[in-house]
This record gives sequence, structure tokens and C-alpha cells, in this order.
Amino acid sequence: MCGIVGYVGNREATPILLSGLKRLEYRGYDSAGLALLEELPRAVSTSNGHSAELVTSTRLIIEKCKGKVTDLEEIAANKPLHSTIGIGHTRWATHGAPSDVNSHPHTDQNDKIAIIHNGIIENYAHIRDRLIARGHSFRSETDTEVLAHLIGEFYSQNHNLTESVRLALNEVVGAFGIAVIAADDPNEIVCARKGSPLVIGVGNDNEYFVASDAAAIIAHTRQVIYLSDNEMATVSRSGIKTRTISNIEITKPVEVIDMELEAIEKGGFAHFMLKEIHEQPRTITDAMRGRVIEEEGNVILGGLQNHLKDLRRAKRLIITACGTSFHAGLIGKYMIEQYARVPVEIEYASEFRYRNPIVDDEDVMFAISQSGETADTLAAIREGKRKGSLALGIVNVVGSTIARESDAGVYIHAGPEIGVASTKAFTSQLTVLALLTIMLGRMRHLSVVDGRSMIRELLQIPDKVQQTLDSTERQITEIAEIFKDAANFLYLGRGYNYPVALEGALKLKEISYIHAEGYPAAEMKHGPIALIDENMPVVVIAPQDDVYEKVLSNIQEVRARKGHVIAIATEGDEKIKELAEQVIFIPKTLPVFTPLLSVVPLQLLSYYIATARGCNVDQPRNLAKSVTVE
Ligand code: M6R
Repeated sequence: MCGIVGYVGNREATPILLSGLKRLEYRGYDSAGLALLEELPRAVSTSNGHSAELVTSTRLIIEKCKGKVTDLEEIAANKPLHSTIGIGHTRWATHGAPSDVNSHPHTDQNDKIAIIHNGIIENYAHIRDRLIARGHSFRSETDTEVLAHLIGEFYSQNHNLTESVRLALNEVVGAFGIAVIAADDPNEIVCARKGSPLVIGVGNDNEYFVASDAAAIIAHTRQVIYLSDNEMATVSRSGIKTRTISNIEITKPVEVIDMELEAIEKGGFAHFMLKEIHEQPRTITDAMRGRVIEEEGNVILGGLQNHLKDLRRAKRLIITACGTSFHAGLIGKYMIEQYARVPVEIEYASEFRYRNPIVDDEDVMFAISQSGETADTLAAIREGKRKGSLALGIVNVVGSTIARESDAGVYIHAGPEIGVASTKAFTSQLTVLALLTIMLGRMRHLSVVDGRSMIRELLQIPDKVQQTLDSTERQITEIAEIFKDAANFLYLGRGYNYPVALEGALKLKEISYIHAEGYPAAEMKHGPIALIDENMPVVVIAPQDDVYEKVLSNIQEVRARKGHVIAIATEGDEKIKELAEQVIFIPKTLPVFTPLLSVVPLQLLSYYIATARGCNVDQPRNLAKSVTVE
């Protein structure tokens, strides 16, 4: 999704903005741009007409283009731009196709003000018509240009920049994270947010940063101020002034981000996605760290300690999430219902938020989100809270909006996930859901002995993931070569591995653009079986669990129609070797934990198929890392 970076200080702004934009590339974008304020010294004759006095004026410079940040970098390299204040943007098209003219920054009618914007202004058409009637004309198809003109209207009525932005924002409906500069106010960036994240970095030597994601500024500072919805800030070399959009002055705490620079670099791997797949033994360990009490067969989740009573008496849990996080939630439902015997409903956040769901104060809601910024998930949790439910978050990004808006929650501690295709966050979400299951189970019917044996097995998962990576990666590169040109893939699984089939199919389509579908294995005969012929690879997740024999029958059905079976099976399973064309073995574990292992070869398979097809794995077309619009 779109990215924002801003800088005001004493250094050259352009390289800081460009490197910040590069750090945001992972979010997904189609164009990039910069706005800078360049100081122009000029000589003015004095009244006696003899000597000349040096004064400065400021020029607004905009450079923007469809394409990558490197394209913008090239433009900037050919026109050395000198400025110590500026804003930069990566755009992910919503209103108007990706093009030079639709790229941000956009300017007002007098070309005095430049704005970058993440989000959607819903009433832009109405405002645009009003402005056209007042003589404005627009160059782009974007909602953002309309906001630029609206701010410009107030600015031309002699309001200062902060007030002009504030007055304009009071008229807009929708979501925004914005940063604005003006040629006549060369010392400040005005920024604001509603529904789209924004963080202000406090640097050394009177320098400040603005970003939609801390990754853009972490190379310069770890001290940040998070703006909340309906808040704005005026950031200048002399400090930060914060207020609400309704004009109440506020004081915001400076927080320290706990993130290392290496965590957002590739560390020798060809892609972030591959690095993140390989990080999983460590990230799963991190998700468990300090949370298990092996002897008591129990778990302590610090963030939930104040809500144990609510969790004990909850009549129902509701999990809401999107994409990969939804798949983790579906496995969570299976886990919790089996071991804690609490009914769990799971629903796509985008559906939940609009269908008047039944929620009451005996329900406990969990929102699962890697980014903590997904607009649908955020709206769902707000809806749940409004209806009286306790709302808990299972989130990766510390300080993200969902983390801050939920009543309490559990961080998954996977570290920054840069690859658009979620991998390590998924297994960390599963780990936290497994811990939650044990905790809820121990509050109810799970014995200490059973709790203990689950914990012992869970503690071995990181080593088993490592074993899976070591023993399958080479084989998977070969399988990828064989099937890389397939037009379709089918993924089948049952029980705990049905959501893994959904996840495997999602991974493949996201990064290789091959059509793939995940199905509960037994449902195949109710429709998808019609698709199977000698061109169809079918990935079947078939560990030796209680539905193993049933899944073998499903494999037979695929073979009978000449489909190519790639099986994910338990090591030592000789029987399956006779049935499947390709068998990828994973270590044995409890059925409840098999998704933590079975998903790993599926992540690798999608990665190696995508790279064999020459796809841009970390930034797949049309996708955004965090989906902050509806
Ligand atoms: O940040 P979130 O977990 O809330 O994101 C939800 C989905 O947008 C996300 O999982 C998406 O499906 C990924 N691209 C999957 O790889």
C-alpha cells in the first residue's frame, strides 16, 4: 500500500527520502514521487540603488513518475536537488490508474502546496465539483489532488499551513495519512492521520522524520511519536506541535522502537521471503519465549493477564482476520475447540464489519493481524467493541493501530515481515494460538499431564521446522522446475491441514500468478474433481493423523484421473510413496501442530515456482503488504 516519508533538518533531504522510500517498497506500489523546498538566494538592490542585499525565496520542486523508486532516483540524479526539507511517496493506485500524473505529490491550484496521501477520500467527487464551480481545474484523477486544492483554498484565505490542513480535514470523509509542505512555509511539514498509520521520528540535531511505517526511518532514529486517529502534527526544526483535528492541543509521548536495522535487510538471502521462511525456527521460539511453564503444563500470556476472568467465562470466541491471518485463525478455531472446548466462530473481517454480526458481552473477540493496520480487521474489531465485546489482538507490529485499539493482546514477536507474502508471521500466529489453546484448555478441561505433553511437543517445533527446511529445500527446487508451467494447482487437506491447503494455494497465486485453489480434501468429489486431468498438479497434505486413511483415498481419486500428486507426508511413511508422484516428508508431531511443519514446504514450493517463472517474489503485482483501504 502507499508509503509516506518526510524529512526536515539540516542534511540533504533527497537521499534520506529516497532511501526511506526504498524501505517502504515492500508495502507494494506502482509509482513514486518527491516534493522538496529549495532555497534560492537572490540579490535585491537596496533603496539607495548602490549595494545589493542577499535574501532567499523558496521554490517547490516536484519529481514523480510511474514505476519504481530507482526510476525516481535516476530522475533525481540528473537534476541535483538541494533541500533540507521534503516529502516522498510510493503510490498504490486506488483512484486513477498508475501514471506519472496520478503519482503523488499533488499540488494545489497555485502550485504552492504539495501533499502526499495514504488512504481514500470518500467524498472527493463532491468536493471536486464544488471547487470546479469556484474555478479550480484538476490534472489528475485522484482524490488526493482534490484534498490538495481544498487545503490550498484555505491557505489562499490567509490561514497558516497547519490551520489550512486542519480546516480541510474537517470537511473530508474517509481515511488519510498525509504529509504537506508549502513553499511559503519552508520550515515545516504538517501531517495528520485518520485510519492510516503515521509515525514521527525524533532525530539528533534538530532533525525530524515523518513516515507511514517505522521501517522508513529506523536507519536514522528509534525515538518516535505515534499519531492516533484524528490527530495532526506540525513538524519543524524547532520541534513538534501536536493537536487534534478538532484543534485541541495535545502532548504525545516519545516512544522507543525496538527494531534492529538488520531485521529489515536481506542478510545474504536472494529475497526477503526466503529469508523469512528460514527465520521460522527462531521466530517460533521467540513467540514462545517466556510464556510456557512446562512443569505446570500451562502458559502465561502477559498481555491477557488482566482478562483471565473474561476468558474463563467466555461463552464464545470470535476470531476475525484477513488473508493468511484468517487461515491461522481457522486453525486456531480447530485447536481451541478440540482442547479448550469453547465454541469459536471465525469470520473474514471484511464480512464481519458490514453484516450486523451477533456479538454480546459474553463473547471475546480476537483480531489477528501481522501488520496491525489492515483496515477491514480494524473496522471489525471496532464493531465488536461497539457491541460490548472484549476485543483482543494477536498482532506482530508493535504499536500498530490494532495493537493500540484492542483492549489487550499478545504480540507474536516475529520481527519485521517485509516479503508481501506472509510466511513467518503465519507460523508465529499459529504458535501464539497454540499457546492460547493450552491456556484456555487448562482453565477448563485440559489436565496438567496433557498440557505438559503439548508444551513439550511445541517446544520441539522450532527444531522440526529447521529439519524440514534442511531436508526438503533442494527437493522442492526440483519439483518447482517440473511444475512451474502449470496453469492451475489444487491443494487438498483435511482437519488441521485444510486451512494449510488454503494457505498453500494463497501463497502460490500471490507470488507466481498461477491459479490455485485450496479445498478440504473430501470436498473434491463435490466439484473440483471435474478439473483433474493430466495437466493438474494436486498438492495433498497427508500426515499420519486420524484422517490419514481418508486422505489416501482422496489421493487415489486424483490418480485415477491422471492428476499429478505431490504429497506432504510424515517421515517414514512408506505407503504413500507408492501412491504419490512426489513425496515431501516432514517430521512427526501431534496433529494439532502439523500445520507448523506442513506449511513450510508449501511456502518453499511457491517461492521456488515463482522464482523459476521470473516473478518479483517480494513485491508481487497488484499486492500490498498492509491493506489499509477497504
Ligand atoms: O497484516 P494482516 O495480517 O492483517 O494482513 C492480512 C492479509 O492482507 C495478508 O495476510 C495477505 O493475505 C498476505 N499477502 C498473505 O500472504
